[in-house]
Amino acid sequence: MAVPSRVVTNHDLAKMFETTHEWIVERTGIEERRWVEPGEGGAELGARAAKEALQRAGLAATDLDLIIYATLSPDFNFPGTGVFVQRLLGISDKSIPCLDIRQQCTGFIYGLSVADAYIRTGQFKHVLLIGSEVHSTGLDISTAGRDVTVLFGDGAGAVVLGRATDDAHVLLSTHIHADGSEAEILWTEYPASTRHPRISAEAMAERKHYAVMKGKNVFKHAVTRMPQAIMEGMMANGIKSIADIDMMIPHQANLRINQMVAQMIGMPAEKTHNNIQKYGNTTAASIPICMHEAIELGKIKPGNLVCLVAFGAGLTWGSAFLRY
Ligand code: ACO
Repeated sequence: MAVPSRVVTNHDLAKMFETTHEWIVERTGIEERRWVEPGEGGAELGARAAKEALQRAGLAATDLDLIIYATLSPDFNFPGTGVFVQRLLGISDKSIPCLDIRQQCTGFIYGLSVADAYIRTGQFKHVLLIGSEVHSTGLDISTAGRDVTVLFGDGAGAVVLGRATDDAHVLLSTHIHADGSEAEILWTEYPASTRHPRISAEAMAERKHYAVMKGKNVFKHAVTRMPQAIMEGMMANGIKSIADIDMMIPHQANLRINQMVAQMIGMPAEKTHNNIQKYGNTTAASIPICMHEAIELGKIKPGNLVCLVAFGAGLTWGSAFLRY
């Protein structure tokens, strides 16, 4: 994982617009988040996380056959950010494909499913999957945008996937879903290629280039879809009891959502890991960042049955089960 060094606490935010540490902690669990310094981008964070993942996998960047980059905050409108990561890893001359995924908080689970399919068909041997976000440069740092601004943070996480050699350490399943009927309950309207120009002074004056969210609706969908995705994965893998799962890593959108999901499925608190308190919602990066921390803390051990679950804008949701 890689996060910017700049820590922004709730107290720091309270100096920028009308909010309080107490309001944020009570509703979301978040205490602080990381924000990039000017010039630092998602590709840079992603490449830092990727280098660490490669080192832990005992592989060189030249061993990679595909880079998948999941984000809702690409460094530029185009090209996709994956090609910049490829360049930062120093392997552009190898001309391996780079694939950007735009599925918000479920981006990492979507990325796992794509990597899994490519590896299973034998088309690619080693796939680098990165979730990386720079939210801070797109936040409405004012009282008007406070409901969204307090939630998000910057960061990246990465994994290297390869063909499993035994059943003890294997990605067992991925299940991914989407429902576009309420896409606008969490979205950023501008810039939009449905308009000419894609962004205007008027649209900016109306703050339409900032994300807007119907928080209560998002909350309700999250606590419905995440348990469904977990149950779907359990059934597909013949997992009869929640007690058989060693660790659940949920997307870090809101601590209250994750506590409610754990309660609904009967998962004891010690079998889930949350770190939204320190990083806020890092969207496509939150699951690999959280998983990294759980591994470092010894909460996930080799061979453990791990459930990853996410929900996000789109709406999108999904789960993955693996033996670490
Ligand atoms: N500080 C202080 N007050 C605030 C803030 C803030 N940062 N934000 C909103 N308020 C105020 C509102 O103005 C409102 O005031 P009013 O009653 O005078 O009108 C009051 O607090 C309540 O606002 P609500 O929006 O109704 O607050 P709610 O209880 O719904 O909590 C929250 C808001 C935390 C955003 C909640 O709805 C939530 O967590 N929803 C899910 C959000 C989420 O998880 N999003 C990301 C998931 S998808 C993805 O990750 C891309």
